Amino acid sequence: MEDKAYFTERHSEDVVIAGSGPKANPRVKQIVDALVRHLHAAVKETEPTLDEWMQGIEFLTKTGHLSTEWRQEFILLSDTLGISMLVETINNRNNAGETESTVLGPFHVSNAPRYPNGANICLDGKGEPLFVSGSVRDARGNPIAGATLDVWQANADGFYDVQQKGIQPDNNLRGVFTSDAEGKFRFQSVYPRHYPIPNDGTAGNMLKALDREPNRPAHIHFIVSAPGFRPVTTHIFTPDCPWLKKDAVFGVRESLIADFRKSGGHWEVEWNFVLPRNDS
Ligand SMILES: [Fe+2]
Repeated sequence: MEDKAYFTERHSEDVVIAGSGPKANPRVKQIVDALVRHLHAAVKETEPTLDEWMQGIEFLTKTGHLSTEWRQEFILLSDTLGISMLVETINNRNNAGETESTVLGPFHVSNAPRYPNGANICLDGKGEPLFVSGSVRDARGNPIAGATLDVWQANADGFYDVQQKGIQPDNNLRGVFTSDAEGKFRFQSVYPRHYPIPNDGTAGNMLKALDREPNRPAHIHFIVSAPGFRPVTTHIFTPDCPWLKKDAVFGVRESLIADFRKSGGHWEVEWNFVLPRNDS
């Protein structure tokens, strides 16, 4: 039996894990020990050179330097590695029939304007008109009146208002609606289009090196909430987008692909949200 006090290649992770003391925070230790086990396994599998190890350090350093109040490169990394979706999924396991969640993304803003049902959230006049309607229900199909629907999407050029301050009107294509006594809601918007996530930083460099595209398939974001129910953060996706199966952040779930229909000069989509009760 080797003495785990001294470092060996074979027992490297055990040596590090054995280093924590009796007053270690149990949750931190659980997480760090797991990371150490998996990171050591990855290093043993890939056997990086010292130069490659230094490139890794520089990659993470640059990722930190790129992160500001307006841009979070670490979240982009988490998104493009599928970690954001995995954490989202673990924390929102659904029963059959309940609306599935997906990533919040970086473009939600709090306190978007409240509108009455039927209002048009498109303030820049671009794009093909889209009429969105539907309902909010519980798992038994009962309507939920007074549910809040926080909606946001990119414009016809593939940018959110917050990415184009001074170019798009503030609060373009975002708004908060309330379901009526029958649980119904409706609003006017524009047909969404796909867009690239910011790809001029380290996450983008990683995608290029992996021959991956930065695109997200066309979608509309929703956060739907109601007293007594678990809120759902989700999207609906158009069914014809070429990027549906190649979402850069893996946010697509089959159950969230909606039936957008063209009728005359405009588009229509109906969508029913099903919220789980708080205690379910
Ligand atoms: Fe988005």
